[in-house]
Amino acid sequence: MGVTPNAHGLLLNGFRQSVKLYRDNKKLFSSCYSLEIMLIKLENITKTFVSGKVETPVLHGIDLEINRREFCAITGPSGTGKSTLMHILGLLEPPTSGRYFLDGEDVTVLNDNQQSRIRNKKFGFVFQSFNLLPRATALENVLLPLVYAEPYPRNAKEKAVRLLERVGLGGRLNYLPGELSGGQKQRVAIARALVNDPDIVFADEPTGNLDKKAGYEIMQIFQELNRQGNTIILVTHEEFIARHAERIIELHYGKIKRETKVTERLDASRELEMMGVK
Ligand SMILES: Nc1ncnc2c1ncn2[C@@H]1O[C@H](COP(=O)(O)OP(=O)(O)O)[C@@H](O)[C@H]1O
Ligand SMILES: [Mg+2]
Repeated sequence: MGVTPNAHGLLLNGFRQSVKLYRDNKKLFSSCYSLEIMLIKLENITKTFVSGKVETPVLHGIDLEINRREFCAITGPSGTGKSTLMHILGLLEPPTSGRYFLDGEDVTVLNDNQQSRIRNKKFGFVFQSFNLLPRATALENVLLPLVYAEPYPRNAKEKAVRLLERVGLGGRLNYLPGELSGGQKQRVAIARALVNDPDIVFADEPTGNLDKKAGYEIMQIFQELNRQGNTIILVTHEEFIARHAERIIELHYGKIKRETKVTERLDASRELEMMGVK
């Protein structure tokens, strides 16, 4: 049976409608796609600290996008607002104005409880000064963030041991922080940051108190975590540390001065090999 002119017209019409449906929704399709890869979006974020009558404006309108599984470094001179920006990204500090979308959700409108739930579930933090409890062993320090976990995970101890092994401290489980080197302390802090299976690891000058070799060892762990799927947001004022990231976001007195893709990215494992460290 041949196609009658009428049926032909209907078919053609159907085809035209499909094309129109696609055209009309192209924006929707592509925004779904960008949601899939975009993890963080900041729109015109400002921060002014207020203490009594003194106002300190620190961030002056930050627009920033960070993709899932990205490794980016925030750099810039001291006092330029890097830590402040990281605290806002980590929901440790609210912005004064602007919007922050995480996984497509505006998190600036959430209350403290909702924000801390996101923080505990999705974020891990590493700081320059390690922030370990001095009287707790490496293992106890790693278990610390689970104190508030509901329900308390089964096999928590095994997991903490595994994480300490992963950062090369399987033989130091019961050492106190005072019995560990700076680099080892920072590796305990990284294991602690990972105990909640975070999506994003934030690190604020994690190598600032370490020598070059220990610094590379820390970057080696971050690069490995990134390869395995973690998004890494690293704050550093050291250029060679920043070059381990995929992208460098340069902050200059509260504004983004430049964003660059790292072309000759450093591989910490190779750097360590060249230093003669296995
Ligand atoms: N809680 C605060 N109260 C007042 N001013 C602050 C506070 N935290 C940071 N600042 C100021 O904000 C500016 C940026 O600080 P910070 O974000 O720590 O910079 P960076 O990490 O780049 O060195 C500095 O001038 C600092 O004094
Ligand atoms: Mg800082």
